[in-house]
Amino acid sequence: MGIPMSKRLLENGYPLTVYNRTKGKEKAYTPQTVSVALSPAKLMKETGVVIIMVSDDKAIREIFSGTDGLLSAGASGKVIINMSTVSSGISKEMADQCSKQGNRYLDAPVSGSVKQAETGTLVIMAGGEEAVFEQVKPILDQLSKLAIRVGDTGVGNNAKLAVNTLLGIMSQALAEVVLFGRDNGIEPEDLLNIIHNSAMGNIYMKIKGDAILQENYKAAFALKHIVKDLRLAKQTGLKTPLGETACKTFREAEGEYGEEDIIAVIKKLERG
Ligand SMILES: NC(=O)c1ccc[n+]([C@@H]2O[C@H](COP(=O)([O-])OP(=O)(O)OC[C@H]3O[C@@H](n4cnc5c(N)ncnc54)[C@H](OP(=O)(O)O)[C@@H]3O)[C@@H](O)[C@H]2O)c1
Repeated sequence: MGIPMSKRLLENGYPLTVYNRTKGKEKAYTPQTVSVALSPAKLMKETGVVIIMVSDDKAIREIFSGTDGLLSAGASGKVIINMSTVSSGISKEMADQCSKQGNRYLDAPVSGSVKQAETGTLVIMAGGEEAVFEQVKPILDQLSKLAIRVGDTGVGNNAKLAVNTLLGIMSQALAEVVLFGRDNGIEPEDLLNIIHNSAMGNIYMKIKGDAILQENYKAAFALKHIVKDLRLAKQTGLKTPLGETACKTFREAEGEYGEEDIIAVIKKLERG
């Protein structure tokens, strides 16, 4: 996600310095269009706004507090926007650390995938000070069709967990009804056609319904990511029947299908 998002900013006139833990990913950019920082600390020194898009809480901790991490730069006056899907706990911790050095932190996770990142049509839900949000809003607007501040630090993260809980539940529900229909004499193609034309039809159902019909389980959103997100939602207090069930189902599917798309859950449900 970091590459298409940063390319979008580049295309819209923002000068960029990029950093990635594993070297070589800068080859994704046209030579000489970006500067490459060799560490998060160097990135922090060279830029006014730092945008982070990495896997999980562990990655965030390493980027901020590891050797040559952002905080080791001793810089101040920077804005750090963390767009990764992580816990509100890690956001609050890092926002405190940033504040002690005179830097400001915004959690701003995204809904949407690579295609939306490429076209600047993500949905961004931010948590943090209103003034910081307004300051970086022009940048967020280049990446999104909607950038909304939902509350203080960490609330953006919680909004993302709510959205992805629905994503997990909807994915499992779609897979279950396709199997139920098939076992009771309804061709999946016909059932999906009915769903798409009913009040329950939506873009997500269409994309994942097509993936089921084509047996295309290449990860657009890896199943292992929904396991992480549902686990975080549980840690944040999700205790509802559907939430609990989806969390269990995806956890059980992860071993075999974690690297495949979220809708590969249908293969797990089919095998039992
Ligand atoms: N893919 C989607 O459709 C999608 C949609 C919405 C939100 N998200 C969220 O966006 C975030 C990124 O997802 P992605 O799909 O872009 O993941 P990805 O392709 O797996 O990339 C993960 C990135 O995190 C870095 N990273 C992981 N552990 C690290 C560590 N300990 N220290 C430093 N860097 C580390 C990786 O660096 P290396 O290259 O060195 O491994 C890589 O740059 C996740 O939180 C995900 O849940 C994804």
